[in-house]
Formats: sequence, C-alpha cells, structure tokens
Amino acid sequence: MNLYKEIAEIIKNSNYVVAFTGAGISVESGIPPFRGAQGLWSKYDPMEVAHIESFLKNPTKVWEMLREMFEVVFKAKPNPAHIVLGKLEKLGYLKAVITQNIDGLHQLAGNTNVIEYHGNCRWLLCLKCGKKEPVKKELIENLPYPICKDCKNPLKPDVIFFGESIPFEIMQKAENEAKSCDVMLIIGTSGIVYPAAGLPYIAKSNNAIIVEINLEETPYTQSITDYFLKDKASETLSKIFHYIGS
Ligand code: APR
Repeated sequence: MNLYKEIAEIIKNSNYVVAFTGAGISVESGIPPFRGAQGLWSKYDPMEVAHIESFLKNPTKVWEMLREMFEVVFKAKPNPAHIVLGKLEKLGYLKAVITQNIDGLHQLAGNTNVIEYHGNCRWLLCLKCGKKEPVKKELIENLPYPICKDCKNPLKPDVIFFGESIPFEIMQKAENEAKSCDVMLIIGTSGIVYPAAGLPYIAKSNNAIIVEINLEETPYTQSITDYFLKDKASETLSKIFHYIGS
C-alpha cells in the first residue's frame, strides 16, 4: 500500500486527529517562513524586530518589518493544504488545529477549532491601556506606527513576540488537544520554538501516531515521528485526501 493511502487509512480509523502547523503550511500561499534561505529571519534579526523589548524601545523599526509582513498576509489565500485540513474537519476526522501562524488562513479554509498559539494579526492592541482595535489597512499605514486613539501610545499586533508569554488558557487548551489526540499531523514547522514545539512530544507521550510533513528533517523526525513525508504540504495533503474519499 502506498504511504499516502496508509496515512489516509490511519486518519479514517482514528478517533481524534489534531494538526500542529507552522509557517511552512502558508509558504505556498505566498507568506515566507521565518527560517531557511527565504526566511524572514534571514532579512531581519528577530531579536531586533520581534522581541517585546525591541518593540518598546523602537516601535518604528519593528513596524517596518510588521508592515512588510501584513502586506503579504493580507494578500494571502488558503492553499490546498489549508483546504484539506478544512475538509478533514468537515468529515469529522480533524478535531483541532494548533497553529503557530498568525495569518488566519486555517479559519478562512473552514477550520473552526483553531488554537492560535502565537496570536493573530486581526487585532492591534495598546500595551498601556489595553484598548484593542481591529486591524485596518489605513491604521497600519500610519507612520511611523499606529497609535492608540485613547492614550496615543504605539499599538502592537495581537501576536506573541519573543520575550512574551503565551496566555495560560491558550497553553492549556493546546496541551489538552495534544493529550487527546490519537493522531497528530505536524505540518511545516521547524519545531524549535518553545513552548509550542513541545506539543508534539505531549501527543507522543500519549501514544499518538505522529505524521510529519516537511521539506526537511526536524528535531521530531528521528525522535517521535512515525511517518515522515518529505514534500510540500499542499501536494502531500492533497495526495492523502485523495484516499480519504475512496
Ligand atoms: N511544505 C511543508 N513544509 C515547508 C514548506 C512547504 N511548502 N515550506 C517550508 N516548509 C518547512 C521548512 O522546512 C521549515 O521546517 O516549514 C518550516 C518553517 O519553519 P519556520 O520558518 O521556523 O516556522 P515555524 O516553525 O512556524 O516557526 C515557529 O518561530 O519566529 C517564530 O513566532 C514565530 O511562529 C513562529 C515560530
């Protein structure tokens, strides 16, 4: 039996599939990953543009990177990988998506139980007075950076910067999903940023079958991965889905 058919059978015979996704699943939607040759961190130093301390010190520089990121995210559409995950939820196999991505593409593809571990780019918030407002093009185009209507302090996207902690309820929800699943699909993540990267190990410690889809090996591959599919997420998930229907 071919590997795609085998994994389709595993999914069909599962009780609770959870997907854990990273930037790699959105690359084919035009959003660059963070690491690797074309990664955002090959252009910017994450400690200078994605750390909470750098934001507080120099919001102008951080917003230069954020504006570039928002530009691609706003234009991005779900690709076949996101769409297959949406269909797997509709068919009742996929119970949750835990994503490290902030692009909202899983929701656009129809997934409803999406845990956004690193937040999302639909809101801007003021760290000073706590005011939140929906992201609007004209707002993020304010130079040098958008400011809070109430207290005039710089607004930050509702994403988790380095140096910030993950909200407890998000961590708990994600951990519970990792503990509940009997299959975890790890898609397009380098698996090195904690605490998110620890979730597949929790799934494995609860005897979940780990299916990893990536262009390269990661710390998971030789340690907890049961099935490694070394190819693009959209191709791989489309081939697996072909056998789900049959
Ligand atoms: N299909 C499958 N995997 C892909 C594809 C693709 N088309 N393109 C790239 N990849 C893989 C890369 O091989 C890499 O392993 O996706 C992974 C992307 O890794 P990162 O860029 O490190 O992204 P991610 O793992 O999501 O980063 C985690 O780091 O910078 C922080 O907060 C940021 O959420 C992010 C976190």
